[in-house]
Amino acid sequence: MGKEADQILTNVQSLREIISAEYCEKCKVRIKDSGRKWCKRCQDRYHRYLTSNQTKEKIILSQVSERYIGANLEHLSREAKVVVIDTDIFLYGGVGTGKTYAMAAMIREGVYQGLDCKKISLDEFCVQIRSCYAPMSKQTEWDYIKPLIDCDILFIDDLGLRTKDESDFAYVTLYILLNKRQEMMLPTVISSNKNLEQIEKSFDSRIASRLKLAKVIKFEGKDRREQSAERK
Ligand SMILES: Nc1ncnc2c1ncn2[C@@H]1O[C@H](COP(=O)(O)OP(=O)(O)O)[C@@H](O)[C@H]1O
Ligand SMILES: [Mg+2]
Ligand SMILES: [Zn+2]
Repeated sequence: MGKEADQILTNVQSLREIISAEYCEKCKVRIKDSGRKWCKRCQDRYHRYLTSNQTKEKIILSQVSERYIGANLEHLSREAKVVVIDTDIFLYGGVGTGKTYAMAAMIREGVYQGLDCKKISLDEFCVQIRSCYAPMSKQTEWDYIKPLIDCDILFIDDLGLRTKDESDFAYVTLYILLNKRQEMMLPTVISSNKNLEQIEKSFDSRIASRLKLAKVIKFEGKDRREQSAERK
């Protein structure tokens, strides 16, 4: 028995050695693109990093609405100042506490690092997907979902807005996104005014258990929108 176990162990080790020679020299996580030192994702990231600031600003504007375009990590609390996003992140806090602003700042940072960042609100995204059920539509559900599974960082703003249970459709869409991205070790940043227990109630435990792996950042304080209205 001991010998057999040893045998299995050496087999696994030699397999690891063979595979590790194939790993990307940059991220050391994904397999090299054939004939290259880096994986495809790291190469694409580097090309985006080299583009002009003007191109990067256009990309930011395509994901972040005008109100948040000036959002910058420097304006965030120490905890929310996340420069390298390598795990899922759950931003939790009341209305107007600055969650969307923080996402916009993270997107700005990510885009300048060359990362492909995409931001959606789950409800809006579900409405968008349903539009492909129209008879004339040439797009499929997969056309909409695939870029969100593939991007380097996906931001999902305002998860669980509904007061009642979430629709089955939103549930399935969210599950596919989270599950696929976790399998590929790609981080997702989610904001909600519900905590994880409440999310578990409105979606279900499978979603909540996936979110338990996330780093939680709590947003506290007064509604910033009310404060700025008071100042006027
Ligand atoms: N760190 C910050 N510095 C400056 N303004 C902020 C900051 N966080 C939020 N704001 C402003 O406060 C308002 C509410 O923030 P928002 O991110 O929309 O809140 P939430 O998404 O949590 O409801 C917005 O107008 C936003 O521009
Ligand atoms: Mg918001
Ligand atoms: Zn790589």
